[in-house]
Amino acid sequence: MKFPGHSRQPDSDQSFDDRAVHLQKNIYGSDKGKLRLLILQRDLAAIIRQRQGLSVFDAGCGTGLMSEWVALHRHRLFACDSSPVMIEEAKKRLSGYQHTTLYCGAIQTVEAKQRYDVVMCHAVLEWVKDQTALLSHLVRHLKPGGYLSLMFYNAWAREMAQLVYGNFDYIDKNYQVRQRVKLTPHWPASPDVVESLLARQKMHLVKRSGIRVFYDILRNRDHYQIFRDDIIRHELRVSQQHPYWQMGRYVHFLLRKEA
Ligand SMILES: C[S@@+](CC[C@H](N)C(=O)[O-])C[C@H]1O[C@@H](n2cnc3c(N)ncnc32)[C@H](O)[C@@H]1O
Repeated sequence: MKFPGHSRQPDSDQSFDDRAVHLQKNIYGSDKGKLRLLILQRDLAAIIRQRQGLSVFDAGCGTGLMSEWVALHRHRLFACDSSPVMIEEAKKRLSGYQHTTLYCGAIQTVEAKQRYDVVMCHAVLEWVKDQTALLSHLVRHLKPGGYLSLMFYNAWAREMAQLVYGNFDYIDKNYQVRQRVKLTPHWPASPDVVESLLARQKMHLVKRSGIRVFYDILRNRDHYQIFRDDIIRHELRVSQQHPYWQMGRYVHFLLRKEA
């Protein structure tokens, strides 16, 4: 299946060696990062917090923030990332935890010998050229009845934001620019396409949330400082509501593989 907006773009998947600093500062160190963690951990709480002894695969773990949360709950963790810089950071973060294994390499190179109770893949899909193959690969790593936690950059929200900013030329050129902002993903995905691709592989949606539904299009930038807590509270409130979740800059799908 062809994903919308894939006409130009680099030839290969994107690693993050040169983006680690940007990621730390602009995402993890900001309210954006806090919101992302709050929503992911809320959506996964019933599995990670309430069950014991699960096997979890964090595919494209970055610096290992979500991996650490899993390790904190004493599950068995396997995490991989194609960037040596990211894996080094994740290693430092996870050094005090037992039952954690880290691998530096592409998700697509991990053989599906071992099946997991939970596979997490957060903010990776939009950096991968062959998204259909990646999704199939992730599903293969799941036990029957296992969960896939998939967060990806939402093509619908990108379009909405560009319309609001009045960047019509950018839209008309199919989002092609000469100079790319380092953390702007190359291949956003449409939630309906992702959902139907996964449905064909017998994956059923359990939960879906929008992350940064209105955060990025706030008109008054001063509000980020003045109404910090209110913004987070209202983002959490609307994140699972129709029609707001569809407008999240990122979408989190929690899916279950048919038993
Ligand atoms: C935006 S970061 C997200 C990291 C982490 N999952 C999180 O949510 O904080 C994307 C990560 O995916 C990694 N990545 C991209 N393509 C990959 C691939 N094919 N296999 C493994 N890692 C990949 C990058 O190196 C980067 O660390």
